[in-house]
Amino acid sequence: MTTKKILVTGGAGYIGSHTCVALLQAGYEVLVLDNFSNSKAESLRRVETISGKKVPLVQADVRDREALRDVFRQHSIAGVIHFAGLKAVGESVAEPLKYYDNNVSGSVALAQVMAEFGVQVLVFSSSATVYGDPAQLPIREDFPLSATNPYGGSKLMVEQIYGDLAASDATWQIALLRYFNPVGAHSSGTIGEDPNGLPNNLMPFVSQVAVGRREFLNVWGDDYATIDGTGVRDYIHVMDLAEGHVRALAWLQNQSGAHVFNLGTGRGFSVLEMVKAFELASNKPVPYRISPRRPGDVAAVYADASKAERELGWKAVRDINAMCQDAWHWQKQNPVGYPD
Ligand code: NAD
Ligand code: UFG
Repeated sequence: MTTKKILVTGGAGYIGSHTCVALLQAGYEVLVLDNFSNSKAESLRRVETISGKKVPLVQADVRDREALRDVFRQHSIAGVIHFAGLKAVGESVAEPLKYYDNNVSGSVALAQVMAEFGVQVLVFSSSATVYGDPAQLPIREDFPLSATNPYGGSKLMVEQIYGDLAASDATWQIALLRYFNPVGAHSSGTIGEDPNGLPNNLMPFVSQVAVGRREFLNVWGDDYATIDGTGVRDYIHVMDLAEGHVRALAWLQNQSGAHVFNLGTGRGFSVLEMVKAFELASNKPVPYRISPRRPGDVAAVYADASKAERELGWKAVRDINAMCQDAWHWQKQNPVGYPD
């Protein structure tokens, strides 16, 4: 790479902002493109404070090809990390076109404009949701894929599209990263996950109960075939995930084609184990009630993360205590998230 400037689409969001910190720490320059449909510019101001470096920002939609062309005309971009997307599973069922348009059309527009400018290093945010309800655990990258909702469908389609693109032209260098369950926050507690309204995901909900914003947690089902009957997931610290992107980007320099990696820890924890760990880390009670299963949930999901370790030389190093402590640190310092 002659330049080390990385375009980060969706860089103001939860994973994007943490990845900007990791990129800047690794010596890259970043340029963020975000439409702020699910984030605030304040996250990037805080990334600047953490890193002591500038984070230039373009407010635009990734589907806007002219805006993308301006970015590539004005900057010498070495590669792109593409986070920009919508991620609420329930909303995707209610508004599928919104998800296919944003997530699929946005990813197509981005790759088209990258091709026009000869920038062909691309890291894409996929999800463990592409494994559907896995027949076996831990989940390897070569397991069967399926989508159980339009959000998952959009991720599968983009994987397919980027795979076809790389097969059509060997000068593309693409990493498709399948995240398991990202949680936690930067250890400064100044950036973190800031969901709009009622959180869908476990950890933000638990944090909001601990800080007193919600009365109790609903535990969606205690009759799964798991250690204590509650759902098991592979929670991964968002800074480990962020560092995985930096590793993938460096690794891509000597590769061609599209390559899939699970980014997880390889260990599953149940809902009740996470609640206990959070209570310990925060020293706050997290009252909960057992409620019926959530439609669409599966019993257990955790990664075989050995391919990323073998090929990228990357491994998650932060444990659930660090995940809970850092999530709590962020929540306590920012009880209502980023200010408007
Ligand atoms: P997030 O909502 O915090 O971040 C996404 C960012 O993209 C936001 O800043 C949003 O404003 C921006 N954005 C959305 N659509 C855009 C568009 N059309 N143009 C420009 N910007 C746009 O979500 P996150 O948790 O940081 O997730 C980042 C990516 O990782 C998403 O693609 C998501 O699907 C994927 N992912 C997330 C998880 C998770 O549990 N958080 C798991 C697997 C995969
Ligand atoms: N859970 C509760 N109560 C809650 C929220 C969650 O008991 O209030 C349980 C769920 O039933 C599940 C576990 O906590 O057993 C984790 O649930 P999350 O919603 O945090 O995470 P999921 O694994 O269900 O979903 C996440 C992402 C999806 C993605 C999926 C697969 O949110 O976008 O992983 O990768 F599709």
